[in-house]
Amino acid sequence: MLAVYAGVIDRDDPLSGLRIDDRPEPEARDGWTTVTVKAASLNHHDLWSLRGVGLVEDRLPMILGCDAAGVDAEGNEVIVHSVINDPSWRGDETLDPRRSLLSERYPGTFAERVAVPRWNLLPKPPELSFEQASCLPTAWLTAYRMLFTRGAIPPGATILVQGATGGVATALTVLGAAAGIRVWVTGRSEEKRAQALELGADQAFEAGARLPERVDAVMDTTGQATWAHSVRSLKPGGKIVISGATTGDAPPADLTRIFFLQLSVIGSTMGTRDELGRLIRLCVDKGVRPAISATLPLTEAREGFAAMLRGDTGGKIVFTHS
Ligand SMILES: NC(=O)c1ccc[n+]([C@@H]2O[C@H](COP(=O)([O-])OP(=O)(O)OC[C@H]3O[C@@H](n4cnc5c(N)ncnc54)[C@H](OP(=O)(O)O)[C@@H]3O)[C@@H](O)[C@H]2O)c1
Repeated sequence: MLAVYAGVIDRDDPLSGLRIDDRPEPEARDGWTTVTVKAASLNHHDLWSLRGVGLVEDRLPMILGCDAAGVDAEGNEVIVHSVINDPSWRGDETLDPRRSLLSERYPGTFAERVAVPRWNLLPKPPELSFEQASCLPTAWLTAYRMLFTRGAIPPGATILVQGATGGVATALTVLGAAAGIRVWVTGRSEEKRAQALELGADQAFEAGARLPERVDAVMDTTGQATWAHSVRSLKPGGKIVISGATTGDAPPADLTRIFFLQLSVIGSTMGTRDELGRLIRLCVDKGVRPAISATLPLTEAREGFAAMLRGDTGGKIVFTHS
C-alpha cells in the first residue's frame, strides 16, 4: 500500500529522510482492527520524528502520521485516537509511562490503511467531513486539554496564545473563543496576525510585544523563543500551560519571577479518549470547525511537510487519498 514514511533520520535536514512509496499492509494483532484512511492530518510531531525525536533508528522504516479519520472493517466512519497504551494500563491514558503515539512504535496514519486497537476508535459524526475529523486527535485534542482540563480556564478570562497559525495555536484560538475566553495571540507576521483575528482572537500582537495588560494564562507550544515573554505577560498568580517546545527547551527558567509572582507552570500532553469524545461533541454542537490551510493527496505529502518546516501553516495541513 502507498505510505509516507521515515526512511532515514536526519536531525538537521528532516525532509531528506522522507519517503513516499509502497509499504507492507498493517499487521493484525489481538484486539486491533484495520481502518481504511480517508484523511490524515500533519503535525509538527511528524517533523520531530524525521529528526529522530521520539523515533529511534532501529524502528525505521516507520510510517508517519498520528491523526486519521476513515472507515473501519465493519464500514463505520471513525476517528482514530492516537494514544496507544500498554494493554494493562487503566485510567488517564496520557499518564501511562509506556504510552506511545501512532508512528512512534506502531506504523502511523499516512497510509492507505492503519492498524489500531479497537478501543481507540470513536464514531465520526456526519456533521464533520473526514478532513475536519482528521484534525482533531492530536493538535485539537492537545489544545482542548490545555484549555479545559489542565488550564481550567474559565469563560471571561484572558489568555495569550504564543503563535498564531500552527495546528495547536489555531485550535486554542478557535476553542477558546467558542468557550467565551478572551484570546490574545502573538504572530510572526501581519498576515498570521490577521488570520488569528479571523479565527476569533480578540487581539493579535507581534511576537514579544508588550501587552496592554497582563493575562490570566499563557498557552505556549513554542518554548525557548517565547518563554521569557510568556512569564513576563502573566498576572500574579497566573499560569503557563505548555505542551511543546518547538524552538528549544532550555530557556532561562525565570525562577525568581515564578516564585515571587506565584506563577504556575503546567505541562499538558495530548488528551484522553473521553476528552476526544467531548471535543467531537463540542465541534458538532457549537458548529466549531478546524481551520484547514491545505488539502493535498498523499502523493504530494512532501509539499505539506515543506510548508510546515518553513512555518507556512495557516492551520492544519491534511492529506487525502484520491
Ligand atoms: N505534548 C503534546 O502532546 C503535543 C501535541 C501537539 C503538539 N505538540 C508540540 O507543540 C508544538 C506545535 O505543534 P503544531 O503541530 O501546532 O506545530 P505547527 O503547526 O508547525 O505550529 C508551530 C507554531 O509555533 C509558532 N512559532 C512561534 N515562534 C516560532 C519560531 N521561532 N519558530 C517556529 N515556530 C514558531 C508558530 O507561530 P506563527 O503562527 O507565528 O508561525 C506556530 O503557531 C510542536 O513542538 C509539537 O511537537 C505537543
